[in-house]
Amino acid sequence: MTQQDVIVCTDLARELAAAVGKLAPDRLFVLTDTTTHRLCLPLIGSYPCLGEAHHITIAPTDEAKNLHSLADVWTALGEGGATRHSALICLGGGMVTDLGGFAASTFKRGIAYINIPTTLLAMVDASVGGKTGINFRGLKNEIGVFNAAATVLLDTRFLATLDQHNLRSGFAEMLKHALISTDDHLAELLRVDLSHADLAAMQQLVAKSVAIKEHVVSVDPHEHGLRKALNLGHTAGHAFESLALEQGRTVLHGYAVAWGLVCELYLSATRCGFPTDRFRQVVSYVRDTYGTFAIECKDYDRLYQFMTHDKKNTAGCINFTLLGGVGDVRINQTATKDDICEMLDFFREG
Ligand code: GLY
Repeated sequence: MTQQDVIVCTDLARELAAAVGKLAPDRLFVLTDTTTHRLCLPLIGSYPCLGEAHHITIAPTDEAKNLHSLADVWTALGEGGATRHSALICLGGGMVTDLGGFAASTFKRGIAYINIPTTLLAMVDASVGGKTGINFRGLKNEIGVFNAAATVLLDTRFLATLDQHNLRSGFAEMLKHALISTDDHLAELLRVDLSHADLAAMQQLVAKSVAIKEHVVSVDPHEHGLRKALNLGHTAGHAFESLALEQGRTVLHGYAVAWGLVCELYLSATRCGFPTDRFRQVVSYVRDTYGTFAIECKDYDRLYQFMTHDKKNTAGCINFTLLGGVGDVRINQTATKDDICEMLDFFREG
């Protein structure tokens, strides 16, 4: 996978013009969903480099991250006269950058794309690192390819359009990045009160968080080893998300990841020696910031089943990424059903 330029913007108009100029596309397309079309496009719509751009808009939310929307984007590219030398700008949250990245990666065997993430989750995670794709047959991100955006442009001014829940959701991935990096970075995040988030200060924290992800992806772009560090919190987190979906409860991805971090830090503390004081601090921050996800003993079997179907598993074993300490990543850790029930007991009862 080619290296991508990730730019923390000071002047988005100039930086976008430079990114487009580098590609010199014969035609330029901008993909939004109806939400980012309304809230975010006005911020960049008048930039001269977008003067001739064709606009494509799809339905919002993860439910629209499907084959139908993908076909709509391919159709719009085809009808707009896109060639292999055209480029697509994806302006939106993770749904738009994942689906748009996949549409670009597959149209005429691949055209270049630029990501302008507009949610915190997309800024620190989805838009960086080249994972693209769609949901399929009820499974999240089931179909996709690794293919990096040419450039990712991060501008925290877009966060002003974000509600508290989505801000908190993105922050969970930042906590994960801190847990796999340094104690100092984790400590500074645990001091952040998201109810009074300062966007200028957030820019610095976003830059640090993205640098952690970029480093991991540059060492292991296709997730054979170190990139599995980024799965911390996600084995349990995805199971909570799937259970919520099945039970008709709405849960944002980052909330599920935060609850997954509690579970997987419990396993880290009990099996890998993760320090108890840090564990308690993170658990208390997560409980204060994200509340909890109500589960009952009768949900354990289903949660266990979801974990066994996780696409990160190999040969029937549930694979966790755990920590021996902050920054001390232990990949490919397996757990028995009893370990998982004990972990869920801790999550449920504290
Ligand atoms: N979201 C985890 C990764 O990009 O690998």
